[in-house]
Amino acid sequence: MQDADEGAAFEVWWEEHSELDRLVSEFALALNDGGAVEARKSLELLTETFENHFSLEELVYFPIIEALSAENAEKVRAVKLGHGWIRNQLERLAGWLEAGDLVAGREGFETLLDRFRQHEAEEERIVHELTGSKAKDGGQRKGSSPAA
Ligand SMILES: [Fe+2]
Ligand SMILES: [Fe+2]
Repeated sequence: MQDADEGAAFEVWWEEHSELDRLVSEFALALNDGGAVEARKSLELLTETFENHFSLEELVYFPIIEALSAENAEKVRAVKLGHGWIRNQLERLAGWLEAGDLVAGREGFETLLDRFRQHEAEEERIVHELTGSKAKDGGQRKGSSPAA
């Protein structure tokens, strides 16, 4: 990929996080205001979207970044660990909601949200370094800041 194309591709990658933010907000609403059934349905869609996004990062974007330098490869290693943690927490959330335990589900979601925000900040730093520009809107994307 040429440099200009690479920059554009990384911006597209960053914009994909807006959709995740929107689904996280929807799940927060379902979890806090709806019942376990509604929350489970919302979690299924969120989990599927997370998985598609993580797969794209791991198969397409991360290998490009890793190939740039050993330092970049190290940063990617750290964010990959974040994917593993988030995947596990999504599974745990599904288990709590399956059991109808909304209290555990809400607590588990708070923990997930903290880690997800941290993960996004790590990826934002990488995108910022690669594109040489701040992610759009200073990192606040459309549909971000879900109600916790
Ligand atoms: Fe991401
Ligand atoms: Fe990620």
